[in-house]
Amino acid sequence: MASELYTTHAAQYAESVTHNIYNAHYERPSLQALMGDMTNLNVLDLGCGSGIYAQYLLEKGASRVTCIDASVDMVTLVNTLLGNKVHAYQQDLTLGLPNEKTDSVDVVVCPLMIHYLADLTPFFTEVYRVLKPGGYMVFSTHHPCAESELRHANNYFDTQEVVEQWNTVGTPLEVRFYRRSLTNIMQAITQSGFVVSALSEGQVDPVVKTRCEKTYKKLSTRPAFIFVRCNK
Ligand SMILES: C[S@@+](CC[C@H](N)C(=O)[O-])C[C@H]1O[C@@H](n2cnc3c(N)ncnc32)[C@H](O)[C@@H]1O
Repeated sequence: MASELYTTHAAQYAESVTHNIYNAHYERPSLQALMGDMTNLNVLDLGCGSGIYAQYLLEKGASRVTCIDASVDMVTLVNTLLGNKVHAYQQDLTLGLPNEKTDSVDVVVCPLMIHYLADLTPFFTEVYRVLKPGGYMVFSTHHPCAESELRHANNYFDTQEVVEQWNTVGTPLEVRFYRRSLTNIMQAITQSGFVVSALSEGQVDPVVKTRCEKTYKKLSTRPAFIFVRCNK
């Protein structure tokens, strides 16, 4: 069940991630740095949110972009933003990708979604199935060693559901996600058949220095997310 942050408050979430420091000046440039040329490629955007990545993929020349999200409100925002330039539909990704054909997709992007899944292996196995041989996936997720993650850990190696209140849209909203070890993430990737070709901890845009020195210093010295590229 998606948090209210992504349903009732989807429009405010979309507004916030357009310009905020964590998404606009840290997460997106860091994940985009792992992507290659998109010209004429068939791309899946999993956990697409409001379509900000889909817009980028179209600008980079992708010939077909399919946006998938558990939240109908997010799918509506994508359709409002991009109309028939993309194909967008609602799907809970814990149930796989039943509408996508095997060996059909060049690239999968999945920014900040996998921490909402209790079990990663079936998800990566489905992504592997739909990718063409030679295709790749890029994703970002909470850094397993970020302070905010470790705060909740009784045992770092146990995957645990975390419940937090997030202030992303200016009002505290409950968000549930899974805190997990790097080992857990890597095992799910490799057991699905993928080979990791890049891993980064991201780089905050220097422009943030003038906007909020404290956040700039924090993200420059304590990464919040990891960014991974895996190849089929
Ligand atoms: C943090 S937002 C990221 C949105 C977008 N990728 C971005 O970077 O702007 C996470 C998104 O994942 C979606 N999501 C969470 N759990 C999901 C699931 N089980 N299946 C599909 N989408 C899910 C949420 O609805 C939300 O839109």
